[in-house]
Amino acid sequence: MSRRNVLKAGGIGAAGLLIGASGAGSLLTFTASADKSSTGIVPFYGSYQAGITTDPQNHLYFASLILTTMDTSEVKQFLKEWTKTAAMMTEGKSIGKAAESLLLPPDDTGEASGLDASNLTVTFGVGPGFFQKLNLTSKQPKELKELPSFSFDALEEKWSGGDLCIQACADDPQVAFHAVRNLVRIARGKVQLKWTQAAFQRTKQADTKSETPRNLFGFKDGTGNPDTSSHSAMNNHVWVQNGWMTGGTYMVVRRVQMFIEVWDRTALGEQEATFGRHRDTGAPIGSENEFDPVDVNKKDVNGNKLIPANSHTALAHGDGKKKILRRSYSYADGLDTKTGSFDAGLLFISFQKSISDQFIPIQTRLANNDKLNEYTIHRGSAVFACLPGVKKGGYLGETLFY
Ligand code: HEM
Repeated sequence: MSRRNVLKAGGIGAAGLLIGASGAGSLLTFTASADKSSTGIVPFYGSYQAGITTDPQNHLYFASLILTTMDTSEVKQFLKEWTKTAAMMTEGKSIGKAAESLLLPPDDTGEASGLDASNLTVTFGVGPGFFQKLNLTSKQPKELKELPSFSFDALEEKWSGGDLCIQACADDPQVAFHAVRNLVRIARGKVQLKWTQAAFQRTKQADTKSETPRNLFGFKDGTGNPDTSSHSAMNNHVWVQNGWMTGGTYMVVRRVQMFIEVWDRTALGEQEATFGRHRDTGAPIGSENEFDPVDVNKKDVNGNKLIPANSHTALAHGDGKKKILRRSYSYADGLDTKTGSFDAGLLFISFQKSISDQFIPIQTRLANNDKLNEYTIHRGSAVFACLPGVKKGGYLGETLFY
């Protein structure tokens, strides 16, 4: 039953109230009316998990979890429940039975009642510790290991690592939070929260022109991404195509604090030189349009490179052959009590088929020379293998346990 219908069914009130003879089994029963089509549904089932090449929604709620059981059958069990529950939530449906006992906690925590599907996607990943704890190291992909340390890393344990992750994205922040909350609740006793992050982009309502979203430094962020509508580009850069991870991908998450107060005192010319792009249009310096090619060798009349060699774009682009798919969100978490400035920045999330061949070389170049490092610092880091997509009737991680 859709969440909107639950509210209506709730309104049936006494007509549907059935008191058990013993008094011990009070049940509110009603007949679920045929599901009305909900708006904004992104299919959960498919060859790939949603939330990777899916158009980014407005809000993110990200949770990194620790596995507290070493029993594989318990893990399989909650992965099966997560599968069913995530599928229902992405259709905007309430979780659990239509009839609920007044003597038990409700199956659904209820805060998303009345809200539609909101394009919810729930994406699941497993970290290196997952394989170690479950004695599955023979299945642990070579790609899935902790990242090396990079220059200027200032990682904190409280923002790093995790055995499992849940990335919930939705156009409504309450729908995204509801998804993570209920999934964690279902696996209670088997998983524990390690760290979480709520984050946002511009809202689509306000963005009538569907422009590339801007980060908290005011620059368009995502322009250089590979084309998510191209199967060959996604096969080249994102989807794993062999072994149990076929149809999966690797995710890198970095919690990057941005010193917005310092940035706000920086001249526009310097800001543009830092990114190697114009702020207004998003075009590479010296070009007109956002999607004009990045030519790192293009020179001005004096023979100087138009896109500075130490700019973020020049270094991240390199020779343009290795690409990652970035799907980051901004965060603003009150203040950094040590400095009294905003604790705000980017929850950088990238997907790639090889962390060692794609993310690490790019991040090494950035960490060593990027002008952007004057204005940012990496506080958290985690890597996950995002599981292959699930077919109807199957469950998350099926190919791993097969
Ligand atoms: C707070 C941190 C960061 C900010 C604010 C930021 C912002 C940007 C901006 C504004 C662009 C230019 C527009 C675009 O192509 O999307 C860009 C490009 C890019 N960034 Fe970042 N970025 C950050 C961190 C990172 C990190 C950690 C990586 C790690 C590998 C990275 C990789 C890239 C790549 C691959 C490109 C595209 C380059 C190209 O081929 O043109 N960024 N970033």
